[in-house]
Amino acid sequence: MAHATESMHGMWSSRFMFILAAAGSAVGLGNIWRFPYVAGENGGGAFVLVYLGCIALIGWPIMTSEILLGRAGRQSPINTMRELTLRSGANPGWQGLGWLGAAAGFVILSFYGVIAGWAMYYVISLASGAFTGADADFASAAFDTFTKDAGQVVFWQTLFMALTTLIVARGVGQGLETTVKYLMPMLFILLLVLVAYAAVTTGHFIEGVSFLFSFNLEKLSWNGVLMAMGQAFFTLSLGMGAIMAYGSYMPKNASIPGTAATIALLDTGVALMSGLVIFPLVFANGLEVSAGPGLMFITLPLAFGHMEGGQIFGTIFFVLVTFAAITSSISLVEPAVAWLVERARLSRWQAAVAVGGLAWFIGLGSAFSFNIWSDVKLPGGLDFFSTMDFVANNIMLPLGGMLIALFAGWFIDQQISREELSLNETAFRMWRFLARFIAPVAVFIVFIMTFV
Ligand code: TRP
Repeated sequence: MAHATESMHGMWSSRFMFILAAAGSAVGLGNIWRFPYVAGENGGGAFVLVYLGCIALIGWPIMTSEILLGRAGRQSPINTMRELTLRSGANPGWQGLGWLGAAAGFVILSFYGVIAGWAMYYVISLASGAFTGADADFASAAFDTFTKDAGQVVFWQTLFMALTTLIVARGVGQGLETTVKYLMPMLFILLLVLVAYAAVTTGHFIEGVSFLFSFNLEKLSWNGVLMAMGQAFFTLSLGMGAIMAYGSYMPKNASIPGTAATIALLDTGVALMSGLVIFPLVFANGLEVSAGPGLMFITLPLAFGHMEGGQIFGTIFFVLVTFAAITSSISLVEPAVAWLVERARLSRWQAAVAVGGLAWFIGLGSAFSFNIWSDVKLPGGLDFFSTMDFVANNIMLPLGGMLIALFAGWFIDQQISREELSLNETAFRMWRFLARFIAPVAVFIVFIMTFV
């Protein structure tokens, strides 16, 4: 079968637009909300070190693999896996990978929309000046009052999911590309402004730096290693086909390994910079680094409330978080939408509403985890929200990523991978060694160690 040089869904207009879109997918709540609190819960420096190792040795080869599969298939992940499996004469079971990814996408999107909704609410809340001069009790109480109000949480979740659906419905060029073209540059500027602000005003910048970079390994457990690996997958948007879908719209002439490295570096830079905004604020105000999911929502408004210009910079901060969340959530919706359009011949509008609507509905479980269902525990002992987060990040994404690496490394017709990557022999072998052995084995070991 002669394969397509363009996707039926549209194409990024340049390599640069692909980088913006993929970095937009990667940079999100994972960097700004999740990275600091998970690093805080796991002792800081050592966690960060393992996380960086995972980005380089697991993240880069898997991202390269995902883009390569996507660009070779030029369809939704489900159909791309189907076509590449057939073209390579591999076991038809590999097609299941597309489905695993789609399922993971719904799981992530469901809780992602809830937290992104919180961020939107906090834009308004900070802009109103509610936190000016507030003390720690007020900040915790404000977070509690808000998250315990199911109606409020669902309202903001609905707004965020509607926005996501609207953008995806408008298509690859009009919707996705236009959004990342404006939001990503703004996001980078806002972040730089905030790092400068934290460095200048807190007086605790160095403490933040040393928390992130002092590598005391005894603070790290195997569970911490699993968390670091899960975080690496989540933050790079790997393991479910989001990057595969974006890769299917990538122009043929762009280098895949180089682009993957650029995206990984941008994403890592943003995570570390977010840490450098958040931890100095936390230390300057004598707050707890291990505050959990509430870290960003309790400590930051409090910190901003005490600082010169805090009302404005606090508002800017949550605008930044909202932008980052939108450019990520659209990449969670895209794979399933593309598949529905290919498969069921739905219009993009119908497909986007179907996918966004279903994720919204599942997400109600996470919205209610903080209020009316706060006592409901799923098998495993966690509430609905924590279960979704754990299952997606620590099981589905690493598993999906491991299988993607194995497929791209061992089972795909080598002519396809060589042609897509167009590397010299040494570099190609290096990528293939990482994809065949290092990445899958590392994931496997971490899995085994956490379960024994
Ligand atoms: N990477 C995003 C973040 O850090 C979240 C995300 C978007 C994602 N698309 C994904 C995570 C696909 C896993 C898979 O917030």
